[in-house]
Amino acid sequence: MQSVFLPKDINGNIVHAHGGQILFQDGYYYLIGENRTNRVKVSCWRTKDFRSWEFRGHLLTLDSKVECREGWAPELEIPGEETTLGHGCNIERPKILYNQKTGRYVMWMHWERPADYREARCAVAVSDRLDGEYTYLGSFNPLGHMSRDCTLFQEENGDAYFISAARDNHDLHIYKLTEDYLGIERLVQVLWPGELREAPTVFKKDEIYYMLTSGCTGWTPNQSSWACADSIEGSWSQRHNFGDETTFHSQPTWVLPITDAHTGEKRYWYFADRWGGSGEKYYQSQYVMLPIHFGKDQSISIQWQDEIDLGI
Ligand code: DGJ
Repeated sequence: MQSVFLPKDINGNIVHAHGGQILFQDGYYYLIGENRTNRVKVSCWRTKDFRSWEFRGHLLTLDSKVECREGWAPELEIPGEETTLGHGCNIERPKILYNQKTGRYVMWMHWERPADYREARCAVAVSDRLDGEYTYLGSFNPLGHMSRDCTLFQEENGDAYFISAARDNHDLHIYKLTEDYLGIERLVQVLWPGELREAPTVFKKDEIYYMLTSGCTGWTPNQSSWACADSIEGSWSQRHNFGDETTFHSQPTWVLPITDAHTGEKRYWYFADRWGGSGEKYYQSQYVMLPIHFGKDQSISIQWQDEIDLGI
């Protein structure tokens, strides 16, 4: 398949799940991400082969059930305020984790008012099913901090972390989540202060933690970087360039491990957005997938290739 794609599903609709995440469950790859059509905020499709896509549902919409937590803000819409992208508040980069203890799926995301990006809040929603309807729990500033581009990371022991751009994108924060994943327990790291990082994406391979981040240039692509650590709460390495000066015209959003069905080798796939731009151009945003190469001294890299073989 091509390394850049924007598929249509089996009903002929465009798969809009940007700034998203791919989770493997019950033999399917579930793609979850931003959908800014009509009153939708987050949608889900699934596939077995990345060619045939089945729509599973809108997980969060402006009409979702709201059960606002104390001290959080319930709005998904602000009357009289319009966005240039769809309707209602801006919901970006949704990511979901399954909480073994509560049996619930928990979604964290970036929340902004429709008209501007000044509030910089995170938001949380929950569901009993990965691809079910989510109940919106509200938005807030984690421990009072600004919070924009974000991701989640889960340890094998169930500990989970929310990583987000703070202080007007100047710093990157790593927060440990509470046991139920519904709140922030504490701030564990402030990374690369003043270096303006966006699009954090964390994964682990062979006991090494890797983080991809982009620079901060709106919808325009820039040079991404990678860093590593022995523990997510420990000290992180310096940043190193990842891809070329535009990261091959993409911005990270997730890393997906896939075990190659032919060789049995576990490979790690860079999954990214090639944003169309702001306004109507946003709807031309595409997905980019490239294999991550692991070099000596824990280094990682990607190279451009037009075609990819996911080995599935
Ligand atoms: C870059 C971010 O990574 C995107 O998620 C989005 O917030 C755009 N900026 C908006 O300009």
